[in-house]
Amino acid sequence: MKKILVATEKPFAAVAVAGIREIVEKSGNQLLLLEKYTEKQQLLDAVKEADAIIVRSDVISREVVEAAKNLKIVVRAGAGYDNLDLEACTDHQVVAMNTPGQNSNAVAELALGLMVYCARNFYNGKSGSELKGKKLGIHAYGNVGKLVAHIAKGFGMTVYAFDPFVKDEVMKSEGIIPVDSVNALYSTCDYVSLHIPATAETKKSINYDLLNTMPKGATLVNTARKEVICEESLLKIMNDRPDFKYVSDVAPDCVAELTEKFAGRFYATPKKMGAQTEEANVNAGLAAANQIVKFFETGCTTFKVNK
Ligand code: 3PG
Repeated sequence: MKKILVATEKPFAAVAVAGIREIVEKSGNQLLLLEKYTEKQQLLDAVKEADAIIVRSDVISREVVEAAKNLKIVVRAGAGYDNLDLEACTDHQVVAMNTPGQNSNAVAELALGLMVYCARNFYNGKSGSELKGKKLGIHAYGNVGKLVAHIAKGFGMTVYAFDPFVKDEVMKSEGIIPVDSVNALYSTCDYVSLHIPATAETKKSINYDLLNTMPKGATLVNTARKEVICEESLLKIMNDRPDFKYVSDVAPDCVAELTEKFAGRFYATPKKMGAQTEEANVNAGLAAANQIVKFFETGCTTFKVNK
């Protein structure tokens, strides 16, 4: 019998936890639950006996991996795994996985929701603008980017995308206009929706020079990671360009300054909210539980992200 810990500082919906419990217990294993923890020590204590861990954006650092003496597998129930110390996992023969695609629709819907919210002046009663006829740039045409593009076409937006890993023909066949550089994307589009992961290459890559190529009245939508934005650049562009707007489902470090200085052009949800739907919690949570059970039963390492 394996001990499978769900450690979620931002909990799954109850229905998702019930589904995870069923999978874990039906396979003869035990579920441990640590939700809404506030101190790292609580996580360090909880992982001590765990053979497997399911997390969301919870940070699985080397310290956590080393405290989890029995750990064999950690699954990030979601897409971005920048919260897992992959090197530490590999060093300790721990398999790290994600559940790609499982929460994408929730994130995509929120990206469009943020665009509408912004275009309508955050519902302050003044007349706003429509998405129809506007140009939307998808920065990275992966699971979420594709869905954002699809929904945006329903709004009547013209959709462009930049992704060096996706062939132009694929985008064209899906009604998307491919562009061959980030600069071309930003200088063309009224809205840019970010869907790049946070990596050494992408961190702080969304900078002033790039943002300043965007047309008058531009809006940047970030449902990716705060780390991909150069925050000094963000503050500067918001300051230099009273027409520029920024909306996100993740508050940047400079949230207080943005809120104070740029009310009416800035909004961020207090916690990362893109994937916070019952459906996404169920899809990602159950996928994570199933991947763990399959790993223990058959050794299957599909969706492994470390070496
Ligand atoms: C992801 O990478 O899957 C999303 O950012 C969701 O993160 P969350 O599970 O913390 O909501």
